[in-house]
Amino acid sequence: MSKKSSELIVDLSRVGVRIKDKKILSDVNFSVRTGERWAIVGPNGSGKTTLLRIVNGYLRPSSGRASFDREDDEVELDRVRKRTGFVSSFLDTLLESEDSVLDIVVSGKYGATRLWEVPPYEVVQRARRLMRQLGCGKFEDRRLSELSQGERQKILIARSMMPDPVLLTFDEPCASLDLGGRELFLKGLETIAKKNHSLSMIYVTHRIDEIPGIFEHALLLMKGRVFASGAMSKVITEENLSKCYEVNVTIKRWNDRYYPVVD
Ligand SMILES: Nc1ncnc2c1ncn2[C@@H]1O[C@H](COP(=O)(O)OP(=O)(O)O)[C@@H](O)[C@H]1O
Ligand SMILES: [Mg+2]
Repeated sequence: MSKKSSELIVDLSRVGVRIKDKKILSDVNFSVRTGERWAIVGPNGSGKTTLLRIVNGYLRPSSGRASFDREDDEVELDRVRKRTGFVSSFLDTLLESEDSVLDIVVSGKYGATRLWEVPPYEVVQRARRLMRQLGCGKFEDRRLSELSQGERQKILIARSMMPDPVLLTFDEPCASLDLGGRELFLKGLETIAKKNHSLSMIYVTHRIDEIPGIFEHALLLMKGRVFASGAMSKVITEENLSKCYEVNVTIKRWNDRYYPVVD
């Protein structure tokens, strides 16, 4: 492990985002340290995806400060993007690819959507190893369009792990998975987490019940502001969820997961 456990990977201080006079985020404080796993939750439109875009270096804050690896926000966002893996449920361009799944995973190493040169042997071996870890090794010769949604999501995790990121981020990754597919995906994610202790993760979802049990921290957003932040069990409470989601929520706990029931 090259990074000390206390090292800050992302440090947002009083971050605000305004788009065309509309406040999307206000006064957001959020930091992630090496190896920490954070869920970002909140209703639709509360600003989760926007916050993730700041963390991933795709958007600069309109106010406040965003630092990465202890450098301030003048740091090259290109470099920030390279050290962050991103998995979302939207993969349109890759789906049309005629390349094999193995090539798609390998291309993640270069931050490109396709390969233009024969990659070095070690790079291909790494891709195969990651695919085996995630239980999708046997698909390497297929096209992405020939896989189920759940299998595709695993390929995308393998792909995003190729550059050896310090942070892996997910935006509603289970949005189009059925129940079984979702559980398989979450298992794959757990395997990756257990094999990479220093890897930090951020998992964005509006669905509380899919937050993997290995996530120990949560940030709850409401209307672009942080409503609560810290230890999962302190943030994901009936009181907090009822206020943020504006319905009466009771929580059932099962195997380190939280299942909200609405009356
Ligand atoms: N580029 C944009 N232009 C204008 N409004 C936007 C833009 N991106 C997001 N928004 C608005 O910001 C709010 C938060 O969006 P988003 O971060 O996508 O929320 P979430 O991911 O929590 O559903 C929403 O009201 C959305 O309509
Ligand atoms: Mg979103």
